[in-house]
Amino acid sequence: MSILFEPLEIRGVRLENRIVIPPMASMTCTKTGLPTADTLETYMPLAGCGAGLAMIEHHAVIPEGRTRLRQLLMDRDEILPYQKDLASLFSGRNMPALIQLNHAGSFIVDEDLLENGWIPKGPSPIRHPRSNLFIMPTGLSTDEISAIPKMFADAANRAVRAGYPGVEIHAAHGYLLGQFLSPMTNRRSDSYGGCVRNRARLIFEVHEAVRDAVGCDPVVAVRLGMADTLPDKDPSGQTIEDARWVAGEFASRGLDLLDLSGNMCGFDGQGEAWFAPYCRTVKDAAGKTPVVCTGGIKTYETALRLLDRHESDLVGVGRALKTDPNLVRTWKKQQ
Ligand SMILES: Cc1cc2nc3c(=O)[nH]c(=O)nc-3n(C[C@H](O)[C@H](O)[C@H](O)COP(=O)(O)O)c2cc1C
Repeated sequence: MSILFEPLEIRGVRLENRIVIPPMASMTCTKTGLPTADTLETYMPLAGCGAGLAMIEHHAVIPEGRTRLRQLLMDRDEILPYQKDLASLFSGRNMPALIQLNHAGSFIVDEDLLENGWIPKGPSPIRHPRSNLFIMPTGLSTDEISAIPKMFADAANRAVRAGYPGVEIHAAHGYLLGQFLSPMTNRRSDSYGGCVRNRARLIFEVHEAVRDAVGCDPVVAVRLGMADTLPDKDPSGQTIEDARWVAGEFASRGLDLLDLSGNMCGFDGQGEAWFAPYCRTVKDAAGKTPVVCTGGIKTYETALRLLDRHESDLVGVGRALKTDPNLVRTWKKQQ
């Protein structure tokens, strides 16, 4: 059997194979953050595609933590019946699915959120390098920072009550936790800024609060932005060495799954498997924590090569699976 189709158990949750559906925002929810019939329709083919694990698009932990107006929310119990429908779409097809939890911080892409003079907040008053809106955020106070882990914890607790076997904390793609990690957006001089230990402090606090909130059984994954530049560019901002340190620290903290992507550079590079060189080095630091490598994986050969070369333990296949939900079955026949 190809290693791609070898099962893997993560905290008692069985993954039938090493293929992961990465989170992909569908923009199908209501303005109040509830999944709709369109959301269910979007996920139906993916839930039945035979991948080993699904990550469901980023859900904001509070309304002020959205990046756009039509973003799913995990902020209140009213969402539970709607989320139960989405969760059972996956559980009914025996596909474990984790809900991705996010706070956008200063990364706002939707002008509609700026109505009524609302100003987003980030680690420091610095314009977000990836937002096309010219917004100057305000810097979070230490009291405001100390409230953030509980927002993620409450949302995680809700996700588990809705029936998901776990959650993924979004610390990539330049959102709030990524903003703390990146020297491009974090110029703080307190214990949350400066060295990587300080810049990553909030990520660990969020992870700890989420684990405490959900108890022993649920899976807790982190999507980590590995660097601010793609592997084929000159490094600037957050470097891969920072990511290696974070991965090592997470290994000692018993993280269940490390899902690897970019930080301020986003997720969209050129060619096939553009993050593979980064994944290899971060996996090395992550010890026994399984890692997922995502970004431009479209063929069976590329997916298999990543696992064969120990560049990752699992592969994320996003757009290719969305275009062809039969891909996993096709690859199975190819092995
Ligand atoms: C339409 C779209 C929405 C996305 N939404 C999210 C998201 O909610 N959270 C996230 O971490 N990544 C998101 N991503 C990034 C994907 O998870 C993935 O990393 C990216 O698409 C690269 O993988 P691929 O080349 O296999 O598609 C999104 C990507 C796309 C194309």
